[in-house]
Amino acid sequence: MKKKKALVAVVLGFLTLGHMNANATQNPEWLKNAIFYQIYPSSFMDSDGNGIGDVPGITSKLDYIKSIGCNALWLNPVFVSGWTDGGYDVIDFYKIDPRFGTNTDMVKLCEEAHKRGIKVCLDLVAGHTSDQSPWFKQSWEAPNEQYSDYYIWTDELSDVKPTDIIKLKEVQGKEFGYETLIARYVEADAPRAKYYEKNFYPSQPALNYGYANPDPSHPWEQSVNAPGPQATRREMRNIMQFWFDKGVDGFRVDMAASLVKNDPDKKATIALWKEMREWINKNYPENVLISEWANPPQSIEAGFNIDFMIHFGVPGYGSLFFQPNTPNGRSVPDRGQYEHCYFEKAGLGSTEIFFKNYLNSYNETKGKGYIAIPTANHDFQRPNIADRNTMDQLKVTQAFFMTMPGTPFIYYGDEIGMKFEMGLKPKEGSAERTGTRTPMQWTTGQNAGFSTCSPDKIFLPVDTDNGSLTVEAQEKDPNSLLNYTRELIKLRKSSTALGNTGDIEVIHENYPLIYKRSAGNEAYIIVLNPSAKAVSVSIPKQGSTELVFGDKKQGAIKEGKTSDKVVAKGISALIYKVK
Ligand code: NOJ
Repeated sequence: MKKKKALVAVVLGFLTLGHMNANATQNPEWLKNAIFYQIYPSSFMDSDGNGIGDVPGITSKLDYIKSIGCNALWLNPVFVSGWTDGGYDVIDFYKIDPRFGTNTDMVKLCEEAHKRGIKVCLDLVAGHTSDQSPWFKQSWEAPNEQYSDYYIWTDELSDVKPTDIIKLKEVQGKEFGYETLIARYVEADAPRAKYYEKNFYPSQPALNYGYANPDPSHPWEQSVNAPGPQATRREMRNIMQFWFDKGVDGFRVDMAASLVKNDPDKKATIALWKEMREWINKNYPENVLISEWANPPQSIEAGFNIDFMIHFGVPGYGSLFFQPNTPNGRSVPDRGQYEHCYFEKAGLGSTEIFFKNYLNSYNETKGKGYIAIPTANHDFQRPNIADRNTMDQLKVTQAFFMTMPGTPFIYYGDEIGMKFEMGLKPKEGSAERTGTRTPMQWTTGQNAGFSTCSPDKIFLPVDTDNGSLTVEAQEKDPNSLLNYTRELIKLRKSSTALGNTGDIEVIHENYPLIYKRSAGNEAYIIVLNPSAKAVSVSIPKQGSTELVFGDKKQGAIKEGKTSDKVVAKGISALIYKVK
């Protein structure tokens, strides 16, 4: 009898363990050394001379991407789109937009990337579709059809503020801007019902994943288990499976926290993604999910492998890089809490907001998933902006990005210091983000080698500073930002301490920034001084060190009896190995 009980306990134990494993995020080995390169496909390389980048163009540049040291790609949306929000308004998730090529071109990109040891991640806009999607068109007409409940429709909205509703008639056909983001519902007067719920612009109706706690007085709020929300969930899984089976290695998930509505603690949304994770663990254990959630403790719990620290969510990114009052793409949650960003030559900023929040997220997610601090992305400024515009300054920011824990993401062109272009008009729903989406600058020739089109047909203007901000010029210059980035990545890859999984300890914050990266017995000390002033500070004893990266004329760590002294010239970046 006793034996039987023990056996039951063991079996139960195995079952629970099996279940726990299925739910926990499995991080494939390759993530330990992954360095991503993000591409805005319309702006990377045009292979057919129509002025817009495309998938074969990306394939033709894989050797270049590899030469930087990157071994993974994230492409912004490439599926058939209405182009009212840079591809984030998807019409057909199963088909590459004709402007970019064909599904076969995508399969070819994956094959060629894999031959070079590069993974390919696409962008999954899970929270909404285009209003031109056939699913939405069907749901617009009538209830009780296949796609009717993929969206949220209602004839009454009794208890909402007038600003929560936007009238479709008043905005239809216009270039959408951020002012349309305030409203939650669109007054459409469709045959199906009067209003639909949107997720971003009015052209992006929210997909229906249900409500965390449906309000009985709101009949449009279905539960997450209702047939409509369950069908939407299955569809998303089908989309992932479709592309995984074609060779895609993962997805960056757009607005991943937005799926289940009225879910303030995100429990229901987390549960939804856990289900996806379980399925991926079982069927595609080498594939990854990257969230645009910007709250790593929540997203990593939900089963994402990587989450970002960016311009929203957990505060901190802004206080490092966004100068207040500079138009730069998007507002940040820490705006108003600081007067100067840290990476600014005035030297009046502070890393306090950043590290308080970063270390909190880092400690909660360590060993479970990765945090990415990207150089930029398609929604906000590049590092080259306003008076952070010299190669030396950009080298200091690059040294930061390439020596932090987690997964580095280089936004295309940041390796050559492309500028955030001020004053460009919105294009395809870019609103204030146009300046970060300009074409990649390859050569010193016409259209910077991006396209053979006539210059008036180019997607957006190029701006190479007389050819210096191009791959061609920087390949030839051993001191270029491009070659500096390559060297930094080489160093990062040579050491577990400096890599994605190494630990971090902050030693000194406000000029210079000093932190230690370590793994086992190996350790490095990074000294960054983005300010124009030379600085000198005392730090606790670190043992003897050797400069392994940077110019020894720029500073030093001098060993003392009870403490060490660090000196760093204005605008300098130095990396020391602890001996
Ligand atoms: C976040 C994406 O990064 C952004 O470009 C897009 O406009 C919104 N989500 C809506 O999909």
